[in-house]
Amino acid sequence: MKNIILIGMPGCGKTTIGIELSKRLGLSFFDCDAEIIRAQGKPVSQIFEEYGEQYFRHLESETIQKLPTNDYVISTGGGAVEKSENIDALRKNGTVVFINRPVDRISEDIDTSNRPLLKNDASKLAALYERRINLYKSACHIEIENIGTFDDILQKIINEVKING
Ligand code: S3P
Repeated sequence: MKNIILIGMPGCGKTTIGIELSKRLGLSFFDCDAEIIRAQGKPVSQIFEEYGEQYFRHLESETIQKLPTNDYVISTGGGAVEKSENIDALRKNGTVVFINRPVDRISEDIDTSNRPLLKNDASKLAALYERRINLYKSACHIEIENIGTFDDILQKIINEVKING
């Protein structure tokens, strides 16, 4: 089966949804941030602190260029769409699904202290969403609004991928 690639804001549910989706579809799961953490042997926040965002973006692009080709659900970091070469690679690699969760819901859900770009300041989320929303919308093949129950979202993705994937 073609890969299913999840994009969207930090805290929109990509990893949680991706893990469960992969189980339901009998696919493997790959998390781009987890791969960077594994390869570097340190958390993303530490990579940002020690080497800066540009270096993290370089690692992120390298990871995206080397993604597995089939039979995976892939969760990307929220900033993966910031580079057009990443978007091209993701679209070639599978069906790109934008998990669109309203910012106020994300703020209720997440702890911003370990998210380098939010730095304990949830108000930064809204600015980031505004800056990225058009990128997410143009990068995706399918957009799913994440406002229902967990089960609803999974079912919506499975149905849409069957029709449009
Ligand atoms: C980032 C999102 C993070 C992580 C890094 C940068 C971003 O991933 O890749 O902190 O630019 O939005 P999540 O979207 O999984 O939180």
